[in-house]
Amino acid sequence: MNFEQIFTNRRAINFFNPDKPIDPALVKKMVEMAAKTPSSFNLQPWSLIVLTEIDDKLRLQKCAMNQAKVSEAPVTMIVLADDDGFQEGNKTVERVFQENIKAGAMTEKQRDWFVKVRSRLYGKDEQVTRGFSAKNTGFFAMALMLAAKSLGIDSHPMDGFDQDKVIEEFKIPANYYIPLLISFGYFDETKTLVEPKWRKGYDDILVRFDE
Ligand SMILES: Cc1cc2nc3c(=O)[nH]c(=O)nc-3n(C[C@H](O)[C@H](O)[C@H](O)COP(=O)(O)O)c2cc1C
Repeated sequence: MNFEQIFTNRRAINFFNPDKPIDPALVKKMVEMAAKTPSSFNLQPWSLIVLTEIDDKLRLQKCAMNQAKVSEAPVTMIVLADDDGFQEGNKTVERVFQENIKAGAMTEKQRDWFVKVRSRLYGKDEQVTRGFSAKNTGFFAMALMLAAKSLGIDSHPMDGFDQDKVIEEFKIPANYYIPLLISFGYFDETKTLVEPKWRKGYDDILVRFDE
């Protein structure tokens, strides 16, 4: 499949074949492909909880409007956006800084500047911070679904779930927000996939407000 075909053929498939697992090597590969996603200052404020055990998936399904695909899919992921992913002291932030030094892109003397610019851009208030974590993680989630499709794996994104319940059930620390869940697997060929949905066209998407 070329990129246009991957993009066109990706659908939220709704019905997964529960008897067709995904090779764990492919799960690793799609995560590593999606890891190429760009992010603010390369801060990569995303993480994944990967559920494959039926008991875990059923626990999640209970928090997700009982959507059957959560447990029918061989793999369901809780996508995490780290609201602290720009803060000094955060493990990934420090790693990014050290890697920049190693690559010659920054010097230790720029630490204060790097702290200040991150705080000014992403720490203004809770809304701005959530924007930072959610937008970067949203790009990652889309990349994950496209990477999966390129490997022949179908997906289904979901935000029909109770944020607080998922956080409590899976003991997720307070710095994380969950933009979405994504189920992965293979379409159940005994079912019918709905026709491709309406999309806004070029002219619908383009706007101006200053004329
Ligand atoms: C962030 C997000 C959340 C979604 N949440 C749900 C959901 O909880 N349940 C569901 O059945 N579909 C959900 N969907 C799937 C959309 O309804 C679907 O992607 C859209 O109708 C377009 O269809 P397509 O993906 O097959 O092109 C969600 C999609 C996105 C991107």
